[in-house]
Amino acid sequence: MITSNPFAELALTIPPAAMQFFVIAMILLVVGSTLLDMLHKKNVVYFFRNAKKAKKNAKIELSTVKKTTVILKTVAHDIATTSELGMGKRRIAHVLGMYGTILFWIASVILIFKYTDGSTAPFYITSMWHIGAIMTCLGGYWFWFFLRVDVSAEAHPWYRIITADLFVLALLACATFGLAWSYAQYSNSVYFSYLFFILYIISNLVLFGGVYWSKFAHMFYKPGAAIQKNLAEADGSRDNLPPPADAPEQFGLGIKREQPKHY
Ligand code: HEM
Repeated sequence: MITSNPFAELALTIPPAAMQFFVIAMILLVVGSTLLDMLHKKNVVYFFRNAKKAKKNAKIELSTVKKTTVILKTVAHDIATTSELGMGKRRIAHVLGMYGTILFWIASVILIFKYTDGSTAPFYITSMWHIGAIMTCLGGYWFWFFLRVDVSAEAHPWYRIITADLFVLALLACATFGLAWSYAQYSNSVYFSYLFFILYIISNLVLFGGVYWSKFAHMFYKPGAAIQKNLAEADGSRDNLPPPADAPEQFGLGIKREQPKHY
């Protein structure tokens, strides 16, 4: 199953051009909805206004080389390893889901644009698609069942669904139905193959069509905010915040008594 290209089989019933059109439409939906979201929340206006204000408080004028170094370090550490999630399970689950999704999306684009014309896709691309979907499921279900704040800290049951869950659930539906569709094709089950394919399409429409209402755009905002924060740290403006107190960190014994999870 891992070496099969589900889109090649689909090309026998749906023209490759229609699949390619679908991918382009999804990309346009993401771009359009993110721009609308920025206009609505005015977060970019705030971001640039804040950056301008912070620049006035800068203690050092950063050279281009220094700025580039800070940005590259942020990309390699804060963004690529989502360091803001600390050293625990939350970060491992996120990294699994994030890289899984990136692999799944890149492989989907390659398979749809390059290997729906009758040529055989190399095994590493089809494996990338399946492994990406499996990684997304591992990270996503782990997060959904055990790590979500409302479940792990607020003791709500795992099946309680709120609007904020739209992103993670749609992402999980895409990966799960994609895998189920590929398996149904592999086991020659025509009925299930159609069923899971339709569910796969619907979940993609919800994921990419729901960007305006979901947490999808955090994957663009978070890196921007991390770069701004580290630049502000390097030029001494500290995002207009006061410097840390020049005193030892003494929080008493309470902080050691139990895991901090009442946020
Ligand atoms: C393809 C890229 C990405 C994917 C698929 C992804 C996926 C997810 C998912 C499914 C969640 C859980 C959403 C929820 O609270 O319901 C999440 C949360 C989060 N993401 Fe991402 N993400 C991506 C990129 C990033 C990047 C680049 C950063 C930071 C630089 C980031 C930082 C975070 C943080 C801080 C949370 C909150 C986690 C928590 O509450 O445990 N993400 N992400």
